[in-house]
Amino acid sequence: MATAENIHDDHAELRVEMRDVEAQLSGLREDGSPEAIARFHARLTDYRSHLRNHFQDEERSESFASFRNGDPMARVRVDKLCLQHREFLGELDRILVDLGSGAITPEGLESIALEVDHLFTNLRWHDSVETGLLKRLAER
Ligand SMILES: [Fe+2]
Ligand SMILES: [Fe+2]
Repeated sequence: MATAENIHDDHAELRVEMRDVEAQLSGLREDGSPEAIARFHARLTDYRSHLRNHFQDEERSESFASFRNGDPMARVRVDKLCLQHREFLGELDRILVDLGSGAITPEGLESIALEVDHLFTNLRWHDSVETGLLKRLAER
C-alpha cells in the first residue's frame, strides 16, 4: 500500500514526466511529421499509464482512507480529488484520440497544446492540494 512518502515521490517523478511531455510537445512545432506525432502519442500514452497507476495507489492509500475518516471537509475534498482523477484520465483519452486521428494541421496541434497546458495546470494544482492535505495529516 502506498505511503505518503510514495505519493510525494510519485508527484516528483510525474512532474519530471510532465516537463518531458511539454518539451516533446513544443518540439512538434518544428517537426509535426506523422512520425513525430506518433512518438508523442506513445510518450503521452506512457505518461497516462503512470498517472493512472498513481491515482490507483492514492485511492487505495492509508492517507486517503484517513482523510475519509477525518472531518467532513476532508471527506468532501478527497471525494473531489478522486472525481478529478477520472476527469484527468478522460481528458487525456480525448487528447490521445485527437492525436491518433491521422494528419494534424498546425491549428490542430496548437489546440492540442492548449489542452495539454490546461490539463497540466489543473494537475499541478491538484497535486498541491494533495500535498497540503498530506502535510496536515502528518501534523495531526
Ligand atoms: Fe490525486
Ligand atoms: Fe497525486
